[in-house]
Amino acid sequence: MTTYAHIVGWGKYIPEKVVTNHDLAKIMDTSDEWIKSRTGISERRFAGKDESTATMAIAAAQLALDRARITPSAVDLIIVATLCPEHVFPSTACLVQDAIGATHAGAYDLSAACAGFIYALSMGTAMIQSSMAKVVLVIGSETVSRVLDVQDRNTYPLFGDGAGAVVLQAHETPGGVLATVLGSDGSGAEHLCIPAGGSKLPASRETVDQRLHYIKMNGREVYRFATRVMGRAAKQACEKAGVALNEVDLFIPHQANIRIIESASKYLKISENKVFTNLNKYGNTSTASIPIALCEAIEAGRVHNKDKLVMVGFGGGLSWGAAVGQWGVPMPYKQHGWWYKSLRWMVYRWARVRSATIRLSRWLESLLPEENGADPYTTPVKEKHKE
Ligand code: UT7
Repeated sequence: MTTYAHIVGWGKYIPEKVVTNHDLAKIMDTSDEWIKSRTGISERRFAGKDESTATMAIAAAQLALDRARITPSAVDLIIVATLCPEHVFPSTACLVQDAIGATHAGAYDLSAACAGFIYALSMGTAMIQSSMAKVVLVIGSETVSRVLDVQDRNTYPLFGDGAGAVVLQAHETPGGVLATVLGSDGSGAEHLCIPAGGSKLPASRETVDQRLHYIKMNGREVYRFATRVMGRAAKQACEKAGVALNEVDLFIPHQANIRIIESASKYLKISENKVFTNLNKYGNTSTASIPIALCEAIEAGRVHNKDKLVMVGFGGGLSWGAAVGQWGVPMPYKQHGWWYKSLRWMVYRWARVRSATIRLSRWLESLLPEENGADPYTTPVKEKHKE
């Protein structure tokens, strides 16, 4: 029997702080006219000091699970796609696991820059189709503002922060994620990267002085690459899924630049009214852009049961990915009553209590003497040899 991976829940988190093009024109040599005409962006959101990749991922994930009516303990796997994780390690996904109380879930981060969400969706789908998981939480979360150089007008105006999440669930009903296509070209790695902070150039006074912990981008190269791969990847994914391009109901591209989106839509011959964009409000939120756009397309009533959706992303790596799916959740979505919301609130409060209790018991355990009095690792070497 074939198992299908359906998107059954969706959620987004957008920070409150709005930064307009006019705000940027006050702090750097740029203008609203330049940014709007070259990119289509009018404003973006930057995370506040209490917000981070993990907090936004958690908020988006909770909403997605609530909509799916799935308890956190039923989640088998959490994948967080991000280019600015909370830490190098532990993974942001583990922090999400703890915060939502996903007590039976594996968790890992996935690094594929702006294409990350499509990669994560593809991995989650494969886990479900191979029966290794029944419920997978796929999250794209980015605090790009923390790795943007305010002295670099080539990158600073383009990006914004936010998070989006979907819940994939195993179903027998045909549909859900029908096909994905992934691609990469590491020969273009230097065109979009954060040079320092990894094993090649660990953080040092010099790397900080040279501002190497910020995103560097060769905009023209990335533009050329994006216009080449975006349409092609979407077409390949449609062919793989057996979906003709004229059957596509909604095209949800990575929200990087309106000119790139228009070029891909033209290549695919998808009319403007079937293309969803929101980059004017949020800028490029990297791997969060597609799940946020999906959530907003749903909110705007643009997704219906049985609709065929195409999502396509591209970015650092260089990497790209496309996914084709058939929507399986009845629309419009029915809002929950107050009792359901209270119940969910209690579930997440309980997750906090649980986490605090485990931390406390771990600390208490560390105070107890080892069994038989001796710790094998601290036993003097000489004595060990005598034995
Ligand atoms: O998720 C993937 C992430 N990246 C992308 O998708 C980016 C892809 N690339 C692009 O979107 C575009 O290449 C940009 C928006 C980055 C640039 O647009 P462009 O039409 O390719 O501009 P350009 O690179 O040809 O630059 C034109 C001029 C340059 O000045 P000169 O050298 O011609 O004198 C830039 O210095 O515009 C200048 N410029 C700016 N001017 C005002 C660059 N950034 C700015 C700015 N404000 N913010």
